[in-house]
Amino acid sequence: MEGADGEQRIPVSPDSIPRLKALGIDVWVQSGAGQAAGFSDEQLRAAGAEVAADLPTCLKGAEMVCKVQPPTVDEAAALPEGCALISYLPTSTDRAVVQKLVQRRVTAFSFELVPRISRAQAMDALSSQASIGGYKAILVGASRLPKILPLQMTAAGTIPPARVLVMGAGVAGLQAIATARRLGAVVEATDVRAAAREEVRSLGATFIELELEAQEGEGGYAREQSEEFLTRQRELIAQRVEQSDLVVTTAAVPGRKAPILITKELVERMRPGAVIVDLAADTGGNCELTRPGEEAQVGGVTIIGWRNLPATVPTTASQMLARNVAAIAGHLVKEGELVLDFEDEITNGSCAIHAGEIRNRQMLEAAESGPASK
Ligand SMILES: NC(=O)c1ccc[n+]([C@@H]2O[C@H](COP(=O)([O-])OP(=O)(O)OC[C@H]3O[C@@H](n4cnc5c(N)ncnc54)[C@H](O)[C@@H]3O)[C@@H](O)[C@H]2O)c1
Repeated sequence: MEGADGEQRIPVSPDSIPRLKALGIDVWVQSGAGQAAGFSDEQLRAAGAEVAADLPTCLKGAEMVCKVQPPTVDEAAALPEGCALISYLPTSTDRAVVQKLVQRRVTAFSFELVPRISRAQAMDALSSQASIGGYKAILVGASRLPKILPLQMTAAGTIPPARVLVMGAGVAGLQAIATARRLGAVVEATDVRAAAREEVRSLGATFIELELEAQEGEGGYAREQSEEFLTRQRELIAQRVEQSDLVVTTAAVPGRKAPILITKELVERMRPGAVIVDLAADTGGNCELTRPGEEAQVGGVTIIGWRNLPATVPTTASQMLARNVAAIAGHLVKEGELVLDFEDEITNGSCAIHAGEIRNRQMLEAAESGPASK
């Protein structure tokens, strides 16, 4: 039931269905749901799923509903009362949707809230999808560049490798670095977390040392830096941006607007033909000129702010997401029954709504503030 624009992923795959069945779960898929991801009804049926002709049939009697995007109000209203839901569900989800889930007494698990601990790595949809986003960012950027990435030594002369700069070396950034390196580019990267240094170097890229004291965050995440820090960071990094052919930005701070790392003035100083792929577009963008969801030309520079890059690689993204969902289900389901142990860090952390109550503090605060809901 993916109604969202451009969403081509599904949360099951021919590979995950036997895993779900082994947990005692009967799997129903809406006819055609896997089409865009390259999974036909026949393939899903052969893997063990029942294929329902329409959504109401698919949802009838369902105890657990898995989807990719957060439900809309209408989708939430159509969920069977008291069912469990596993999907993206940011704490900032539309208040009306949250209220509807509460009303329907849905037990809602959120990909965003799965704790990023070793034990939950197989359930970590943010990582699996970020890694695909990082890979695709390099391919999209490379396809827009007026030059090739690798060094070429030919009878027609020597072509130097392109220079790629990756800003933010988290999951997406590291995959972007690895992909750019495989394509033969010279890669540099920057991050505010000290731990990123060795990871960047191990991929054969240069870590740009900034003479700056960054605030360390918690749980492996970056913390929001002061405006003074960001101003100095922009000054220090400007020359590297100017010299780059392709810049991929992934810098993010959970729950905050993305930091601006590339200003309008800096874009104007970039090489003609240079490309910026801004993976932070969804949270405002790391480049001041990024238009979320769009591709823009500013002077000779292309700025790509596409949303949801993982959905543009729907087969692999669905395979990985389906594995994450099967791992979450494996954690929650015992002998075909949902068993909720709120003493458990993963169950407790990832369950946003249960028994008519919002359990997540940020979601509760967001639901209690803001304009009145429909
Ligand atoms: N299961 C696990 O244990 C697990 C899973 C995933 C991630 N993690 C940890 O969390 C880290 C970050 O994860 P993510 O990719 O989801 O992060 P993210 O998407 O929140 O941020 C992307 C990157 O941007 C960086 N960043 C933030 N502000 C910046 C700035 N001003 N300049 C430059 N870079 C900036 C962050 O440090 C981060 O590396 C990982 O690298 C890892 O250490 C752990």
